[in-house]
Amino acid sequence: MLDEYVWGSVERISPEAPVPVLSVTREEFTLGGAGNAAKNLAALGASVAVAGVVGKDPQGEKLRAELVNLGVDVSAVVAEVMRPTTRKTRVIAEHQQVLRIDRETTDEISAASTDVLVQRTKELLNAVDVVLISDYGKGVATRQLLASLAEKARQARKITIADPKGLDYSKYAGLTLITPNRKEAALAAGVEIRDEDGLFAAGRRLLDTVNVEKLLVTCGKDGMVFFERGAAPFKFGTRAQQVYDVSGAGDTVAAMLSLGLAAGWPYPDAIRLANTAAGIVVGKVGTAAVSRAELLEALRR
Ligand SMILES: Nc1ncnc2c1ncn2[C@@H]1O[C@H](COP(=O)(O)OP(=O)(O)OP(=O)(O)O)[C@@H](O)[C@H]1O
Ligand SMILES: [Mg+2]
Repeated sequence: MLDEYVWGSVERISPEAPVPVLSVTREEFTLGGAGNAAKNLAALGASVAVAGVVGKDPQGEKLRAELVNLGVDVSAVVAEVMRPTTRKTRVIAEHQQVLRIDRETTDEISAASTDVLVQRTKELLNAVDVVLISDYGKGVATRQLLASLAEKARQARKITIADPKGLDYSKYAGLTLITPNRKEAALAAGVEIRDEDGLFAAGRRLLDTVNVEKLLVTCGKDGMVFFERGAAPFKFGTRAQQVYDVSGAGDTVAAMLSLGLAAGWPYPDAIRLANTAAGIVVGKVGTAAVSRAELLEALRR
């Protein structure tokens, strides 16, 4: 996914229609979606390989080049003809976002692309510690691909984490851990969350119905709750932050949790790392990555 930003100033109304005319002064792009998770990981020195689908278009090339720039292995990035690279363009006039333009399809990727991804991820599996599935519901994380990943990862004893999308979590069966936010957990569990009891009930319901080992529900400014079979739910609080932009907090959580677990840390430590990193990222504008220095300082505090 490519995040684009177009900045400019507005000095007049168009003679063609009652709309402002933006005079563009600057354009920028960054990696979004799974690319943002990869960026977060690369920023802290992890070696990362990305599997996914782009279009056969200039944006797909841009995305690939940016990943290569960060040292990310793109051997499992597939370009599909007749499919656009997912692109979100924000138009910002004098510090105010006035429009977002989405170019994307959420249709499932082709059977041929799925086959290629199944094959390439299988080849990459032995070289990694953790598989992170950053599902944005754009048609890449198909049931078939997830089932193949879950099975092969289990055989190879690798940890698998998914940031889930949609209402039906049965496609995540066999994974180690999923990280829905509170609202997503409520919808997927079919349990209303009004208070802590509701949250615990929803978490338990998900663990009972979805075949995953563990569950981490993120709760915005209230931190996170970790659920494991046979243990009481475990809460992790946050230090309330001055929030500038919550977008990307979920990517940071999934990425930092993966990093901690890849380093062999116990779950509580990896979760604390993710919680701290997400607290930093919400204080930044856009989907910025956390640096090593910022993270060290926050952990010391
Ligand atoms: N106001 C806040 N203060 C401190 N930390 C925060 C705040 N908001 C979010 N966080 C941190 O970010 C984590 C994820 O936030 P949240 O539960 O909103 O995720 P999300 O809704 O999945 O985000 P995204 O929109 O990126 O998908 C929280 O668990 C917490 O660690
Ligand atoms: Mg999220």
